[in-house]
Amino acid sequence: MRFSTLSLAAAVSTLLISGFVGSAEAAACDTTKCVFPACVCPSVNPPKGMDPKTVPQFFTLTFDDAIQGPTVPVAKSLMDGHRNPNGCPMKATWFAQTLYSDFALIQQWAAAGNEVADHTMNHIGTPPAEEIIGNRKAINAFSGIPFANLNGFRAPFLNYSKATFDILSQEKFLYDSSASALTEDAFWPYTLDYGLANDCWNGICAANVVAPGMWEIPMHAIMDGTNAYVMDAQLNGTPDKVAQWLKDNFNRHYQGTRQPFGIYLHPVHVKDADKLYNEFMTWAAGQPDVWFVTNHQLLQWMQNPVPASQMKDQPYMKCELPAVGKEICNGLDDSKSGTIDKGVLETCNFVEGPWSTCYGCPKTQPTTANPVPDRVVPAGQVGGRTPVPATCAMEWWDPIAAQCLCTSSNCTFTDTAVTTTTTATTLPSPTNSNHKPASAASGQMTGSWAFAAALAAAAAGVAQML
Ligand SMILES: *[C@@H]1O[C@H](CO)[C@@H](O)[C@H](O)[C@H]1NC(C)=O
Ligand SMILES: *[C@@H]1O[C@H](CO)[C@@H](O)[C@H](O)[C@H]1NC(C)=O
Ligand SMILES: [Zn+2]
Repeated sequence: MRFSTLSLAAAVSTLLISGFVGSAEAAACDTTKCVFPACVCPSVNPPKGMDPKTVPQFFTLTFDDAIQGPTVPVAKSLMDGHRNPNGCPMKATWFAQTLYSDFALIQQWAAAGNEVADHTMNHIGTPPAEEIIGNRKAINAFSGIPFANLNGFRAPFLNYSKATFDILSQEKFLYDSSASALTEDAFWPYTLDYGLANDCWNGICAANVVAPGMWEIPMHAIMDGTNAYVMDAQLNGTPDKVAQWLKDNFNRHYQGTRQPFGIYLHPVHVKDADKLYNEFMTWAAGQPDVWFVTNHQLLQWMQNPVPASQMKDQPYMKCELPAVGKEICNGLDDSKSGTIDKGVLETCNFVEGPWSTCYGCPKTQPTTANPVPDRVVPAGQVGGRTPVPATCAMEWWDPIAAQCLCTSSNCTFTDTAVTTTTTATTLPSPTNSNHKPASAASGQMTGSWAFAAALAAAAAGVAQML
């Protein structure tokens, strides 16, 4: 099958590749030396020889670019109406950049159980090391997310080279998700011990990428028979047409060898396509054994695959939120006031736009040369914020009191799973005060809505978003 148009739609441009020919083949993966679970060869089949009919159909939703006032509600509008078979709210992965992001909103996204991954500081294709490393450092410092949870990467414009993988490998990233998959190369996630096996048309497969143990999570393109759309498929057809492509492509996976299915979006491009995607996801969630997962959850399964019937027992699929009881700056609406981190955030004003943080405003906007500038008020001084120590989880750390509120004897959690069989098909409006949260998780989301709406007015304009 040959595709004349590969739409790698980034926010500013659609890269058209016309009449590309043939492909440099991927290096053969040596199945005798590539031993599970440390090494997994590229394959269209599930790991460990499992029968495709018994494995979960994974569904990943990912967002790219700045996490800021206007983009967060778009993401939530696509997630709030969907739950997994175990009653837990849908989670997603966001490939976040520093530029125009609000670090408090990045933290809130993670605190709600979603994944944050690296998309460089300034949205640079084929990024130099400091773009990748600096973004991770800034998000760790100003959003409180531990490095261990910040270890996925997607290249801006899906533009990467062998050097990109060398940097990721050196920095011990867990996975990359920048390469696109069509049909023959519609692989399950695999490790890069024997190189990349996707995007071979651009020569990358012949470039001898070697990153033992690091995963590639291919981006599965939506195909309409002629063209392949890797991101923002809704930009390429009428809602009816796109809805049909989504179902057809989902079924190709679901009725075939169940490679994870993905929807990869830029929130700024969603506009009124939220309806189309929500209807599709409601339909998909109605099929047996479909699980919405973050890339991290997907890789946890890859390392210890279980049949779909056992998914509900996997600890990484649970949805428990810390029950802290009083408002501390941790990305959660601990006091259930309807506003996350009410009264405890600091707002930092820079020419790139204002943003908030729990961990102390820096003197200058983070840059590649200095991703974690000194704080205006250093930790330890009156009014200073103390960073999360390695011994405490972000959600339990009070950066103002410099205290960990969870000792092994007294951590309490609230399970946000809803076990009724009814699923909302209409989404609550952000300002609908009649919407009664069904769980702590919904309450948390309501807080986000309010906070995001308040910030939207102050945030950088749409023109500044990438
Ligand atoms: C990839 O990024 C590099 C560096 O920013 C740029 O020079 C190059 O033109 C980009 N390639 C494509 C195909 O966009
Ligand atoms: C747990 O114990 C610590 C240390 O005694 C205490 O500071 C904290 O308030 C307790 N947390 C909760 C949620 O009760
Ligand atoms: Zn991007």
